[in-house]
Amino acid sequence: MFITFEGIDGCGKSTHAKLLSDFLNRKGFKTLILREPGGTEFSEKIRDILLTSEYVLNPEIELLLFEAARSHLTQNIIKKELNAGTAVISDRYFDSTTAYQGYGRGIDLNIINICNHLSTNGLKPDITFYLDLEINEALARSKDRVLDNIEKSGNSFFEKVIEGYKKIAIEEPDRVIIINANGTVEETYNQIINHINQKFFLNQT
Ligand SMILES: Nc1ncnc2c1ncn2[C@@H]1O[C@H](COP(=O)(O)OP(=O)(O)OP(=O)(O)O)[C@@H](O)[C@H]1O
Ligand SMILES: [Mg+2]
Repeated sequence: MFITFEGIDGCGKSTHAKLLSDFLNRKGFKTLILREPGGTEFSEKIRDILLTSEYVLNPEIELLLFEAARSHLTQNIIKKELNAGTAVISDRYFDSTTAYQGYGRGIDLNIINICNHLSTNGLKPDITFYLDLEINEALARSKDRVLDNIEKSGNSFFEKVIEGYKKIAIEEPDRVIIINANGTVEETYNQIINHINQKFFLNQT
């Protein structure tokens, strides 16, 4: 079982990855929570370069570094854990690249799709939750944090990212579920668990 969370910064991905992991543990699953970029020593180093270093990176370099980090994580961790039966939950995966480097930065979506395919070897999540939240509310929720390099891109960039996520969800409705993340943690959690139950547990006999 491979589940991913998507959405702009501060929408609740980490919160709900942890809550879903706890739920699946109670169902008897071994779980692993990952974050992108990151999740391996190598990919965490790329994360530092991307998010906190002083290098000014053009969108193409940004794309390639995200994909390099993703490739290492996919080959070394995600595939092995899925084969071992672990429920893998990732805080971001390739939809983030489509939304941020594609719709946000404006790189040709055909190129993005090819790069995503290369780094994942075609591996797709069973289900992806896009936590939909307005920018101002997301900023308010994460107001005490220091902004990383991508978060400094400004509101018009994030408007494009949000529109991108919505298009991704429309294109793949069976995989990508839009969750209204405006409510309380519990309201958001209940929507997520309803979908998880429908997809994985309701048809059990
Ligand atoms: N539905 C919710 N209602 C209110 N607050 C929430 C909700 N979900 C998460 N939060 C709070 O919003 C803040 C941001 O959530 P979280 O860190 O999970 O977001 P994130 O998407 O992982 O952000 P980032 O991408 O920056 O890591 C946290 O303080 C969290 O407790
Ligand atoms: Mg987070």
